[in-house]
Amino acid sequence: MTDQTSKPVAVVTGAAGDIGAAIAAELAASHSIAAVDIDEAALSATVSRLRAGGAHATAITCDLTKTDDLARMADAAKRLGPVTALINNAGGAEALTLHSMTARTLARDLSLNLEAALNCFKALERALIEGGSGTVVNIASVNGLGTFGHPAYSAAKAGLIHATKAIAVEYGKYGLRANAIAPGTVKTQAWKAREEANPGVFDEALAWYPFKTLPEPEDIAAAAAFLLSPAARCITGVCLPVDSGLSAGSPGLPRTFTQSPDFDGL
Ligand SMILES: NC(=O)c1ccc[n+]([C@@H]2O[C@H](COP(=O)([O-])OP(=O)(O)OC[C@H]3O[C@@H](n4cnc5c(N)ncnc54)[C@H](O)[C@@H]3O)[C@@H](O)[C@H]2O)c1
Repeated sequence: MTDQTSKPVAVVTGAAGDIGAAIAAELAASHSIAAVDIDEAALSATVSRLRAGGAHATAITCDLTKTDDLARMADAAKRLGPVTALINNAGGAEALTLHSMTARTLARDLSLNLEAALNCFKALERALIEGGSGTVVNIASVNGLGTFGHPAYSAAKAGLIHATKAIAVEYGKYGLRANAIAPGTVKTQAWKAREEANPGVFDEALAWYPFKTLPEPEDIAAAAAFLLSPAARCITGVCLPVDSGLSAGSPGLPRTFTQSPDFDGL
């Protein structure tokens, strides 16, 4: 039997959320999981589920927007073993539009979705270098690639995609890779209020997607596992959309532009 504790450590932020929990579960086969979240109760439930599935997982409660908390989190993660992977997954959006945005919501959106990820990288920078083959995966969004609402969150995610390239370029010399993933619409707790307001929200969203299946948290987790794996050893500085084709386009517009029924299907 494998000694779970001899596995390298993967720090997964936002691990109590749906995508974070799926990433933690996926990586648990190859890593000891440092599961990080601000929501202590939800994190404890996630870690219990991971352990019940045979994972070596440790809960680290942390507000990633607070620098003192980050330093404490990094120390706790490093005590678990060599940290070789950081998955910056925690995120969330406040302001829906520029009109409704305030200085306060702008600061919160930038702080959680951009600054926290970079500060988390800085807190674990030395550990990731010392691990010899450190890998960072930043969970961005299609909102960082196009205009889909939530402008401050989107600006932060676009910044996160740039920051991913900056890490790849500056830290490649240490054997460290950094990539981003841009999920499309994934049905998670983050959508709860919108689904309550409009139970048809996912069907409406799907109408814009070329591929008629929305990604699940497990699809994002599979992409993260690939980017961490030796199969991706020469992939760094990229942003991989896991978005059922949304960032490639929506079929309705070429249908209008060409007037071709080919876009309607056979
Ligand atoms: N669900 C989607 O449609 C979708 C689409 C594109 C990108 N994403 C991105 O995927 C990631 C995960 O999203 P999700 O849908 O699973 O959301 P979620 O709300 O289920 O999970 C987010 C987690 O982050 C945690 N968190 C929030 N603020 C924190 C803080 N200050 N410190 C520590 N933890 C904090 C929350 O407690 C929560 O557990 C986010 O970065 C999100 O922007 C999601």
